[in-house]
Amino acid sequence: MRKYVIAGNWKMNNTPAQTRALIEEMKPLVADAKCDVVICAPYVDLAAAVEAAEGSNIAIGAENLHWAEKGAFTGEISAEMLKAVGVKYVIIGHSERRQYFGETDLTVNARLKAALAAGLIPIVCVGETLEERELGITVETVARQTKIALKDIDAAAAKGVIIAYEPVWAIGTGKVATDDQANEVNGAIRGVLADIYDKATADEMVIQYGGSMNAGNAAGLLAKEHIDGGLIGGASLKAQDFAVIVKAASK
Ligand code: 13P
Repeated sequence: MRKYVIAGNWKMNNTPAQTRALIEEMKPLVADAKCDVVICAPYVDLAAAVEAAEGSNIAIGAENLHWAEKGAFTGEISAEMLKAVGVKYVIIGHSERRQYFGETDLTVNARLKAALAAGLIPIVCVGETLEERELGITVETVARQTKIALKDIDAAAAKGVIIAYEPVWAIGTGKVATDDQANEVNGAIRGVLADIYDKATADEMVIQYGGSMNAGNAAGLLAKEHIDGGLIGGASLKAQDFAVIVKAASK
C-alpha cells in the first residue's frame, strides 16, 4: 500500500512572519492526518517554517536546489544547506522553473542525484503543455521527462522519489485535469517506471497529481488508483482549504 503524500508548494509567496502564522494555523487542522503532510516554501522562509512546524506532523520542503556541493554559483542553494536548516523534501523540475528559468531534463537529473545523495526526499515534476496535449504527445512527453530525470538512479534509490504529474495547462488556471485524465497519465508514468525498473518498484512509488487541485476536487482525484497524493499551489496558501485536501487523503 502506498501512503498518500499531500505537499503544498507555496511558490513565491509569504515572508518569514507570514510563514510562521500560516504554519501555526495549519498545525491543529492537519494534526490527525493519516497521510504525509509537506509544505514547500521559499528559501528565506525555510528556517521559520522548520521552527514553526517542529513537533508537528508537517515536514518542510524547499522548492529547488543546486546540483553542486558548493562553489561559485551565485544565488544558488545546495542540498547540504537545506539539510542544515532541517528541510526534508525538495521539489525538482517544476514546470515554472522549466518555463522561466531554463530548467532542462538533464539539470533535473543532476539536481535529483544531489538531493538523493544528501538524503532529501525529492518531488520530481513532469507534465505536458497544452500544445503537447493537443498534439497527442502527452504520454511521450512525461515518459521522456521521467526517464531522463531518473537516468543512472537505481531501483533502491528510485523508491524514495516522488513523481508529481502536473499538466502545465492546469497550473494556476483553475482548469483541473479530470479524474480520469489525471489517472490515465499517472498510470502511464507508473508503466514507464515499471519499464525502467520493475513492477514491484513502480507499484511502491508515489505519483502525485498537481494543477488546480483544491478542496472541492481533491477527493475525486485522490480516489483514483494511480493518484497517490497532490502537489498543491494556490490552495496550500489557505490553511482551511489545505486541511480539507489533507483530510481527503486520510481515508
Ligand atoms: P496550482 O494548485 O495553483 O494550480 O499550482 C499547482 C502547482 O504548480 C503545484 O506545484
